Amino acid sequence: MAQWTLSSPQFSGLADFEPNALFAKLPTPCYVIDEARLKANGECLAGLAQRTGCRILLAQKAFSNYDFYPLLAPFLTGTEASGLYEARLGAEEMPGKEVHVFCGAYREDEFQQLLQYADHIVFNSIHQLKQYGQRAKAAGKSLGLRINPQCSTQEGHAIYDPCAPGSRMGVTREVWDREMDSNLLALLDGLHFHTLCEQNSDDLETTLKAVADQFGDILSRMQWLNMGGGHHITRPDYDMQTLERCIRFARETWGVTVYLEPGEAVALNAGYLVSRVLDVVENSGVRIAILDASAACHMPDVLEMPYQPPIFQADTDLSQGETYRLAGPTCLAGDVIGDYALPAPLKTGDLVIFGDMAIYTTCKNNTFNGMPLPDIWRLSRDGALTPLTRFGYDDFKHRLGSAR
Ligand SMILES: Cc1ncc(COP(=O)(O)O)c(C=O)c1O
Repeated sequence: MAQWTLSSPQFSGLADFEPNALFAKLPTPCYVIDEARLKANGECLAGLAQRTGCRILLAQKAFSNYDFYPLLAPFLTGTEASGLYEARLGAEEMPGKEVHVFCGAYREDEFQQLLQYADHIVFNSIHQLKQYGQRAKAAGKSLGLRINPQCSTQEGHAIYDPCAPGSRMGVTREVWDREMDSNLLALLDGLHFHTLCEQNSDDLETTLKAVADQFGDILSRMQWLNMGGGHHITRPDYDMQTLERCIRFARETWGVTVYLEPGEAVALNAGYLVSRVLDVVENSGVRIAILDASAACHMPDVLEMPYQPPIFQADTDLSQGETYRLAGPTCLAGDVIGDYALPAPLKTGDLVIFGDMAIYTTCKNNTFNGMPLPDIWRLSRDGALTPLTRFGYDDFKHRLGSAR
């Protein structure tokens, strides 16, 4: 891996600035969402929609900083939600656009309210279709069922593979043939599959072949096919032609409207986590910089996925430069971000700028150890920085007990 610089996709949004000077006055840790990069992603997705006739939704589980929904709305058909709260957020903050929801299992005490917000409701099982389908149909909703084509295209990430053996995600053809009946089938307007994670379109093409083999006979009776998320469409090496071929194939073969619901692709490389060094310690020759940002609290996918996040001007080739292990301040021994080579020795107060931090961060962080939630800032095209939300002690306390 070469050094991350302003020409790396993760930091190219800062190419017109001197990042350390730009962020020098920010209280850390904080997330900075890059408006220009978001817009560029939006334009890329809108171009795809225009060329192919597909419809693109923002999967809010990845990015739900709704101050940016007005910026994204012109490029998108709407939002995708994982349940009631995200559905409501999409309806409230991207008004006039479609709201789609998929949930592993809906709750009786929420379903009625969900009908207020959702346009498309996708069920994960035939039982749930049986339980809620009539009610949703009577409310005028478009209904779908998630299918599981049992086609794994990712290795070593079972936690992110909905097609892993024994997965609860979606209905296999075997279960479909056992449980589906004509009354339930008549309720369905579409099918949904989500099988990818940060993947290119060759894996979509493989998946689509499996879908065609197993569910092709059913798809010709449907109005739409939702191909889920995990498409890394806005990544520089993404093969757009293959994706476009897949979308056209689905439209022409089955006469369906194609939906995609990427999360990452919408906000890819459109955010930074700005942190500072609090201390530098040493153990058996390893220099460890303790930051005011935590992997466990502020970028949980670093530990969950796991992956090593990009840092401006750092290198993962440790053969040269100043080598440090970067870690968080929490009690968790494994709150380690990774080992990096830096151009100069680190000292207390130095800025450390993480890239690609808009996705699965602000919507997934936590206050373990009483860690403050990082504030969220907007970076405008002209370099202006505006605070969007500030967090404090009350945000930590209110999640834990009675408000007094
Ligand atoms: C059903 C569904 N749709 C969309 C997405 C968004 O995926 P990504 O952010 O990888 O594009 C996910 C992610 O888990 C998902 O489960």
